[in-house]
Amino acid sequence: MKKKILVTGGTGYIGSHTAVELIGSGYEVNIIDNLYNSDAETAERIGEITGIKPHLEVFDICDRKKLDGFLKKNSKISAIIHFAAYKAVGESVNKPLDYYRNNLDSLMNLLDAMIRFKIPALVFSSSCTVYGQPEKLPVTEDTPIKPATSPYGNTKRIGEEVIRDTVFANPDLKAISLRYFNPVGAHPSGLIGEMPRGVPENLVPFITQTAIGLRDMLQVFGNDYNTPDGSCIRDYLHVVDLAKAHVVAVDRLLGDKNKKRYEVFNLGTGKGVSVFEAIESFERVSGVKLKYKVTGRRPGDIEKIWADPSFANEELGWKTEYSLDEAMRSAWKWENSIRKKI
Ligand code: UD1
Repeated sequence: MKKKILVTGGTGYIGSHTAVELIGSGYEVNIIDNLYNSDAETAERIGEITGIKPHLEVFDICDRKKLDGFLKKNSKISAIIHFAAYKAVGESVNKPLDYYRNNLDSLMNLLDAMIRFKIPALVFSSSCTVYGQPEKLPVTEDTPIKPATSPYGNTKRIGEEVIRDTVFANPDLKAISLRYFNPVGAHPSGLIGEMPRGVPENLVPFITQTAIGLRDMLQVFGNDYNTPDGSCIRDYLHVVDLAKAHVVAVDRLLGDKNKKRYEVFNLGTGKGVSVFEAIESFERVSGVKLKYKVTGRRPGDIEKIWADPSFANEELGWKTEYSLDEAMRSAWKWENSIRKKI
């Protein structure tokens, strides 16, 4: 019988790509999503890609009663992958309580339910934001955690600690936190991808929306950083590669080889790319000349960060396969497919 995986936030950007990979690897996927930042049609799209439509339940996991009701009806869940969270860094600065309440209540409700309903394994969606601006690059899992620069980042740091403490207090639980670097791109089918609400905060959706004519011009936030071309450096990884890491993390938690109860992995390519290099990659694969201007630095931005993914490479047997060009090509295909529909 197929093992059942509960994916919270499974109609969102990373969640939907992960649902596709889980189904492709023989898991049964159940999604809970409140559709705050996504739509129900994504479940249909996942079905179109995989041939199996995941079961979607629409409610907010901050609602304990509804979560309990769902788990009473749906027994035998082998693991949970928890994506559902607010993720806009700027918004979190203005609405800290919304972020703490939403991102932490949901996590604590899940952990509490896992203990009561005997669900043994959790994969948590964390972020490289927990490292702040590291002194030494690339970043390993032993790089010191820094105080968060936003309430959003703080919910990831605190979230990891809540999980670690809960796992150690409950011998039947195991968990893995995955610290993502910068996920970009879309499924090669062009059927699922990132769908930001309003004006995008992130670089790649802003690039594709500018290229398609939805935004006048991209602002490059600073060219006076201490980097070779003066713009910030990030580690951009294809969302399909990232999705696959979740499948391996679930396999590891459910297999009996690994005895560790709580682990953390960096997920990135290991390669730093500047904003100008990202623009060049987009222009190369799309054939579109992007309109952009250099403006001032964005408050809270980190100058440079990229991963040392060797722990994930060795322990999970996972590494990124797609290039930045391929990620940009898929993001452009996705942008074109959604604009045709609107
Ligand atoms: C941020 C968060 C990260 C979070 C992610 C998800 C921090 C330090 N990082 O990543 O934890 O998971 O958002 O939303 O809090 N840029 C421009 N013009 C734009 C947009 C971005 O030049 O219009 C530049 C930025 O200055 C940055 C790079 O592009 O150098 C990437 O920015 P972005 O996509 O927003 O991601 P991060 O800030 O790295």
